[in-house]
Amino acid sequence: LKNKKTVYFCQECGYESAKWMGQCPGCKAWNTFVEETVSAKKNPSGNLKSSEKRQDPVILKDISLSEDERQTTQIGELDRVLGGGIVPGSLVLVGGDPGIGKSTLLLQVCRNLAENQVTVLYISGEESLRQIKLRANRIGDFNDKMQLLCETNLEVIREVIERKKPDVVVIDSIQTMFHEDVSSAPGSVSQVRESTNILMQIAKGMGISVFIVGHVTKEGNVAGPRVLEHMVDTVLYFEGDRHASYRVLRAVKNRFGSTNEIGVFEMCNTGLEEVKNPSEYMLNGRPEDASGSVVACSMEGTRPILVEIQALVCQSNFGIPRRTAVGTDFNRVNLLMAVLEKKVGIHLGTSDAYVNIAGGMKMTEPAIDLGICLAIVSSCKDVVIPDKVMVFGEVGLSGEIRAVSMAGQRVQEAKKLGFETVMLPEVCKSSVGKPEGINLVYVSQIRDAISYIM
Ligand code: TYD
Ligand code: MG
Repeated sequence: LKNKKTVYFCQECGYESAKWMGQCPGCKAWNTFVEETVSAKKNPSGNLKSSEKRQDPVILKDISLSEDERQTTQIGELDRVLGGGIVPGSLVLVGGDPGIGKSTLLLQVCRNLAENQVTVLYISGEESLRQIKLRANRIGDFNDKMQLLCETNLEVIREVIERKKPDVVVIDSIQTMFHEDVSSAPGSVSQVRESTNILMQIAKGMGISVFIVGHVTKEGNVAGPRVLEHMVDTVLYFEGDRHASYRVLRAVKNRFGSTNEIGVFEMCNTGLEEVKNPSEYMLNGRPEDASGSVVACSMEGTRPILVEIQALVCQSNFGIPRRTAVGTDFNRVNLLMAVLEKKVGIHLGTSDAYVNIAGGMKMTEPAIDLGICLAIVSSCKDVVIPDKVMVFGEVGLSGEIRAVSMAGQRVQEAKKLGFETVMLPEVCKSSVGKPEGINLVYVSQIRDAISYIM
């Protein structure tokens, strides 16, 4: 144990400390420090003596990109989030809560790739071959380009990859992988880092695309995927309500594409289905002639998504009114209520207010401000907003309706879904133009918007 030392790592963000701490100075999480032993000698993998290799710089102009053909996964929603398909030699982290559908999605990707004559190696440290087979049976038929391996030792995995030379590798999950040189348990920060390091060498050295599954952990001694976010090229998070069947795949980081794109899926009994038109899906089951409900529009990447915003305002029984916001920013809701109180003169000070984005989506774009305000007013005054009306616009502190981006696209989406009227900021007039077949109501003050629905 001469060249071993003990350090403490935050399992949440990987912050390293010489002593145990109750709260992590890096990510402010509590009770996340865990003791780990690391070998004192640097470069634990030990196979890279960079000083011995002679390197020459390359002229940027001379690099050709023809080999960087993206590989399509045949899943449009995933390709979009990846920025147009899989880049050869890229390292993609797929994070999410346990049971959200990471393994299912990647198995479907493998199937589609194998169908396209791409050799795929799926390495599982979590399930047995039999269990994977059972899951695969639900998804469909696999051809012989798809190979499976149940292994957690990275040296063995490296050897198999070098021998079999697959085009795409899936590691399910990084928290089960270990390297013998690192003495701490699988799932610890040092193991997860070292394992990712080795996978990075494999990906970059051999031009293999590697998908890494990482579980998001609420507590316990397992390092979260945030620890390796900075090491990979692309970070995708799979999120969704436990009780809803749809799932949202979101890019948090992408070296090869935009990070605001989302992909929407629905979990069916034959795996994940793409949801090509999320607005239609989100608006399913909307109540008719109910007060406190309005449809608003939020941009997710390049896609407008319509959602129903619900509010319930009622007399408070206690001195301090209760307020909650589900699916949107709580502080923003409080701020908008203050604007309604002060600038429009609606008394909300003694009312409880509950605001909900129906369908379990999380939306924080300011463009839904107007929707939140109108839902609150509609519930408070018990007036029904006609169900063929869609609203969007940011509400400022003096009650002004401010411009939002891509107004034209939002209007088109509303039209496509059969809405008859769109209420939008006056300042967007020039950018929207004069679309046919839809009635546009321009507002510049929250007061005007409210008098329109009253
Ligand atoms: P899974 O992919 O195992 O989640 P993760 O790898 O993120 O932990 O997803 C498991 C859940 O999905 C499980 O609750 C069962 C459900 N499921 C379906 O509903 N339909 C299916 O076809 C499959 C394969 C799984
Ligand atoms: Mg899994």
